Amino acid sequence: MKLLLLGKGGQVGWELQRSLAPLGELVALDFDSTELHSDFSRPERLAATVLSVRPDVIVNAAAHTAVDKAESEVELAHTLNATAPGIVAAAAQQVGALMVHYSTDYVFDGSGSTPWKEDDPTGPLSVYGRTKLEGEKLVAANCAQHLIFRTSWVYAARGGNFAKTMLRLARERDRLTVIDDQYGAPTGAELLADVTAHAIRETLRDPAKAGLYHLVAGGETTWHGYARFVLEQARAAGIDLKASPETVDPVPTSAFPTPATRPHNSRLDTRKLQSTFGLVLPHWQTGVTRMLRETL
Ligand SMILES: NC(=O)c1ccc[n+]([C@@H]2O[C@H](COP(=O)([O-])OP(=O)(O)OC[C@H]3O[C@@H](n4cnc5c(N)ncnc54)[C@H](OP(=O)(O)O)[C@@H]3O)[C@@H](O)[C@H]2O)c1
Repeated sequence: MKLLLLGKGGQVGWELQRSLAPLGELVALDFDSTELHSDFSRPERLAATVLSVRPDVIVNAAAHTAVDKAESEVELAHTLNATAPGIVAAAAQQVGALMVHYSTDYVFDGSGSTPWKEDDPTGPLSVYGRTKLEGEKLVAANCAQHLIFRTSWVYAARGGNFAKTMLRLARERDRLTVIDDQYGAPTGAELLADVTAHAIRETLRDPAKAGLYHLVAGGETTWHGYARFVLEQARAAGIDLKASPETVDPVPTSAFPTPATRPHNSRLDTRKLQSTFGLVLPHWQTGVTRMLRETL
């Protein structure tokens, strides 16, 4: 089997390089790869890359993920998050490949407190959310055999992340203020990559499993709960911090105005994924603890 991975250097792409490798021959590209064109800002040439590799599976981890910047880079965000995945999906259909793509909780308007199901009405609040929604629609319309995973609050051990930022701030300051009215589940890039590999194998065996799925870690928290948990773990590991879990103050979203509006309710219902693929999604604290043990 041959697999084409696009966006290999991102949080999820990096972990996919590991999890996809045992499935077959892996061609992994980043936007500046020299051997084959994979720059999503010039999407018209992406089809030629797919046609020359002729993979059985394409996994697209490339995206414009700078949520606030997207508000002022509308055209670029649209090209990267909608036009380019649409072109890749059409090429996947042409070569008979399964197309795997990632989307986001930001396709929803964040109302209520019930976890969103796959077929709930969407209502993105931001350019990022709107372009990602258009991207998932184009992927589904252009390639019959697709897997689209909507996820949320992605972190990875490699590079910067929310937990590392909280630890840095807690070393510098006595008190932190963190938003406590956005609810979701921090989800590890490792988990996304491992579930992706499993779902690819299952879907190649049973094409009826293709479709749209919500994929996040179990449980829920707020950014405030997440920050407190990180500081609790650091304290238990004997890390010297100025701030403590008790001096993380909860504030509403309005305390930190940002160009992009973020949903309050980012809870995603993952029952469809768990029952279709026979998987259990571990609690968010499991992955965050592991990431902290690797990085502390
Ligand atoms: N991060 C989150 O919290 C989150 C939440 C929900 C859904 N998602 C979705 O999950 C997927 C993976 O996200 P991630 O967290 O791994 O994002 P990420 O770390 O920002 O990775 C995105 C990748 O896209 C690449 N890229 C940027 N511009 C490109 C271009 N012009 N052509 C080709 N590639 C380009 C980036 O390369 P460089 O690093 O070299 O710029 C990077 O490798 C995305 O579909 C995202 O929308 C993410």
